[in-house]
Amino acid sequence: MAASGEEIIRLENVYKIFGPQPRGRAFDLVKAGYGKDEVQRRSGHVVGLDDVNFSVKQGEIFVVMGLSGSGKSTAIRTVNKLHDITFGHVWVDGTDVQTLDGMALQAFRREKMGMVFQHFALFPHRNVIDNTGYGLKVQGVAKEKRDLAALKALSLVGLEPYAYNATQELSGGMQQRVGLARALASDPDILLMDEAFSALDPLIRRQMQDEMMEIQQELQKTILFITHDLNEALRIGDRVCIMKDGAVVQIGTPEEILTQPATGYVAEFVQDVDQGRVIEVHEVMTAPDPLDPNMSLSDALQALGDRAGRFVVDAAGKPTGMLTIGDGLRASGMGSTDLAAALRTDFDRTSRHTTLNEAYAAAGRGLPIAVVDDDGKLLGNLDPRAIMEEMGRVESLIDGFEREVFL
Ligand SMILES: Nc1ncnc2c1ncn2[C@@H]1O[C@H](COP(=O)(O)OP(=O)(O)OP(=O)(O)O)[C@@H](O)[C@H]1O
Ligand SMILES: [Mg+2]
Repeated sequence: MAASGEEIIRLENVYKIFGPQPRGRAFDLVKAGYGKDEVQRRSGHVVGLDDVNFSVKQGEIFVVMGLSGSGKSTAIRTVNKLHDITFGHVWVDGTDVQTLDGMALQAFRREKMGMVFQHFALFPHRNVIDNTGYGLKVQGVAKEKRDLAALKALSLVGLEPYAYNATQELSGGMQQRVGLARALASDPDILLMDEAFSALDPLIRRQMQDEMMEIQQELQKTILFITHDLNEALRIGDRVCIMKDGAVVQIGTPEEILTQPATGYVAEFVQDVDQGRVIEVHEVMTAPDPLDPNMSLSDALQALGDRAGRFVVDAAGKPTGMLTIGDGLRASGMGSTDLAAALRTDFDRTSRHTTLNEAYAAAGRGLPIAVVDDDGKLLGNLDPRAIMEEMGRVESLIDGFEREVFL
């Protein structure tokens, strides 16, 4: 198996054309640069994938996102050869998937990957544990052993107590969890998830996303995840690949997609996204620059510059007080020269990986927030204005694309 961070899946110049003669005129048209609609009009063939290239690293959550018909499912199905491809190569852990057939293909699918779909077909007449262990049963694993594996997988998705319940007694969200547990039961390196959470209502969906991310952290699975929802993609993806009409438009981290959309098409998507959900505090905080507690109040006020406030830290580097311009001016107006007396201690603290949305409520007080590490040491100074500016910057970036012709 590939080591963490090494490439484990690669699509290389992959074309998929649907129709009676996929390698005929339609393929020539695609290679000549004609788009999906034009190829369809001229040849009656459907372009599923148009020179798709991406690679997924061991242990990452790689999300493919795009509108309906953009080729997401077609792309994921090339990875376990549910589709033959028209041209190109698909590599999984060093194996050229297209060369596999028969027993070798079956063994490869079974050992390397688990799949979860949107409408996961559970057997209604079997209980939860039997549904979970079904893949292992097909592999001929003895009942005792597969029940153990199934229980372990069910505990990962929080359904262990329901192991012996009838499947029909479970809610839609719970059934989808059983689907995930089934995929996990055979402990595959790779999870292929095609719109696995799309049918769930928003709250359950977020819970499932969180659980999946926890499982991934714990087990270091590689997850190829398909969604048509950019919010979901940005929330869970280490990297996101955006597709349109069978072609890859952009691949990047959520931050890159949000802040440097490659085309107007991507920018259009980004417009609907709540950036505050993706951008984290460390990206907008400034250096901690604590004040010297022995300074006079007037020197400290000078030292604030255009900052809304600065912190004072103790010997361990933990913030103990904050001077704001307002507090400082008020105290000095009353004749005080003592910095300590002007400090306030009721400031908010946050961690560097908090999202701007999570920090938003605290920022509403208009006062700087102390960004601290796990030991409580000051890492940065978060000015509430920086949050607003960051969100505004993304807005104006989208405006910049407005005149581009959307091709
Ligand atoms: N078996 C097939 N035969 C013919 N055309 C197909 C087949 N499967 C997919 N297509 C076409 O390939 C294109 C890509 O389809 P695909 O299912 O990959 O889209 P998708 O991005 O998964 O969409 P959705 O969000 O609706 O699931 C579409 O135009 C579709 O009509
Ligand atoms: Mg699909």
